[in-house]
Amino acid sequence: MKPSIYITRKLPESIIAPLQKEFEVDMWEHEDVSVPRDVLLHKAESASALLTMLSDKIDRELLQRSPSLRVVANLAVGHDNIDLEAAKELGITICNTPDVLTETTADLTFALLMATARRIVEADRYVKEGKWKSWSPLLLAGLDIHHKTIGILGMGSIGEAVARRAKGFNMNVLYHNRSRKYAVEQDLGVQYATLEKLLTQSDFVVVLAPLNEDTEGMFQEEQFLLMKNTAIFINAARGPIVSEEALEQALKRGDIAGAGLDVFEAEPIDADHPLLKLHQVVALPHIGSSSKETRYGMMALCVENIHAVLKGKKPSTSL
Ligand code: GLV
Ligand code: GLV
Repeated sequence: MKPSIYITRKLPESIIAPLQKEFEVDMWEHEDVSVPRDVLLHKAESASALLTMLSDKIDRELLQRSPSLRVVANLAVGHDNIDLEAAKELGITICNTPDVLTETTADLTFALLMATARRIVEADRYVKEGKWKSWSPLLLAGLDIHHKTIGILGMGSIGEAVARRAKGFNMNVLYHNRSRKYAVEQDLGVQYATLEKLLTQSDFVVVLAPLNEDTEGMFQEEQFLLMKNTAIFINAARGPIVSEEALEQALKRGDIAGAGLDVFEAEPIDADHPLLKLHQVVALPHIGSSSKETRYGMMALCVENIHAVLKGKKPSTSL
């Protein structure tokens, strides 16, 4: 019997064709709806490999109930949806998709920063809704980006790629990270800061850290109070790093000026969520790595990694 692979979302034919020659491939039938937990548990029970989305919970229960499982390839760089410790204990290889998405995610992060500062989304709506009656001196006036200070929380590859973009805008770049990045400081001319210094001095606070026990709930009222009231907060990492309740209050009180969010505590966010009622919030549906080139690249990498592990070879990216 051929080893079987379960893919938790409908992917293009061209991506899965190479696997179908050697493996039994089964796939959830929808492109835009997550596989229900009970279906996933059932499919995983007999699978040798899973190709998963960041919205699938790959926890100890699932891993323990899947005796043939050898590899999980997650279509994301983040892996907070997977119990790595349980996987290690059970000898299951976990693969993610770093590197291929670095520049694309940095592009989106910077676009979100610019859109929030310069009120691009509001301005688009203003024109399309026929509200533009005359030119006026402070019409949709936003905030400058060039020559300002950006504070990057989480100086991994994506953080570095955002820092390079910021340098192109003549920004002063601060960063905070678990470990100092001396080489990056040298190469890019960025400066390490304590979290407190980063929050108090930055005009743009950009979160790019992974979600883990150190970062979960890191942004509360206290952190927003430290920030300038002209500051803009950007989160392109994971929603649970930030208390949305605290963020909402900070925006309403004017403790900070705006927020650009690609990620939320619960995704998809409810359209009635109070944060979405605020004009100074730009909200995106977790599309950091979503360019056609990169999403195809990520899918191909997952397929390649599954193929490698099932053939007894080393995958090119694993955790
Ligand atoms: C997306 O958020 C990812 O982790 O790749
Ligand atoms: C961003 O999503 C990261 O995992 O650093």
